[in-house]
Amino acid sequence: MKVLIATEKPFAATAVEGIKAEIEAAGHEIVLLEKYTDKIQLLDAVKNADAMIVRSDKIDSDVLDASDKLKIVVRAGAGYDSIDTEYAKKKGIVIENTPGQNANAVAELVFGLLVFAVRGFYNGKSGTELKGKKLGILAFGNVGRNVARIAAGFGMEVYAYDAYCPKEVIESAGVKPMENQEELFCTCDIVSLHIPATHETKESINYAMVGKMKKGGILVNTARKEVINEPELIKLLAERTDLKFVTDIKPDADSEFAKFEGRYFSTPKKMGAQTSEANTNAGIAAAKQINSFFATGDTRFQVNK
Ligand code: 3PG
Repeated sequence: MKVLIATEKPFAATAVEGIKAEIEAAGHEIVLLEKYTDKIQLLDAVKNADAMIVRSDKIDSDVLDASDKLKIVVRAGAGYDSIDTEYAKKKGIVIENTPGQNANAVAELVFGLLVFAVRGFYNGKSGTELKGKKLGILAFGNVGRNVARIAAGFGMEVYAYDAYCPKEVIESAGVKPMENQEELFCTCDIVSLHIPATHETKESINYAMVGKMKKGGILVNTARKEVINEPELIKLLAERTDLKFVTDIKPDADSEFAKFEGRYFSTPKKMGAQTSEANTNAGIAAAKQINSFFATGDTRFQVNK
């Protein structure tokens, strides 16, 4: 079988070597397309592919139609909002993700952003500490749970809300469950977003919600930019000069946010999962899932059933 790794944002070289070793050991062939700049390059590379390993690459109906042989696409990572899963389902193409494999990397970046924020973006003046602050985790999935684990080490008070996770699971991690999202925003000094981008969550982080935060509140986003209502957050930051917003996903309105000097920071490129370890874990998991799919029809990680 021909397995295409198509990554506009490449994996670490060690991860590619690991994926190649797994796939070739199972008797399949690897084709590599990295740093492509045009959809045409992707469409060309997909021709004749039986399987694909991708990251946040946009896998739309054109890509899914580009190979008659395509049977499975594995997103080496958690979020699959960049893939047309419904169209794939109609075509009988299996879409899978690799949940949890890059979660620690994203969680660590949350604290990189937070230390930077509470220390005034390293402006030389006295900042504050994370110890003793109330951290609110919105969605208690793999990343949220890693954030809770690390926050305990910082001596933070940790709270979480997740509409789909039982309170007992949150409590068993030593975290205080909140009744709803509003309560989380009202209670915490810092709110860290870990919700996926869905119809339900799109633009849900808006003026009213973030406006509930206490004086000096910090919003940190390592999830998806689509969950933020950007015009409303800009309006709020203009009115509430005490609030800070730090993000790993550059907003569309980056230049508007950049006006809030000393209160806004964005990484240059989404890099929460950009570690050699996360690339290797997610990439090799994807390779194993593809091998298992071709060997036994295993679809345990399918997200478009
Ligand atoms: C994910 O959904 O797994 C993370 O957002 C990482 O995405 P990336 O592989 O595009 O860096």
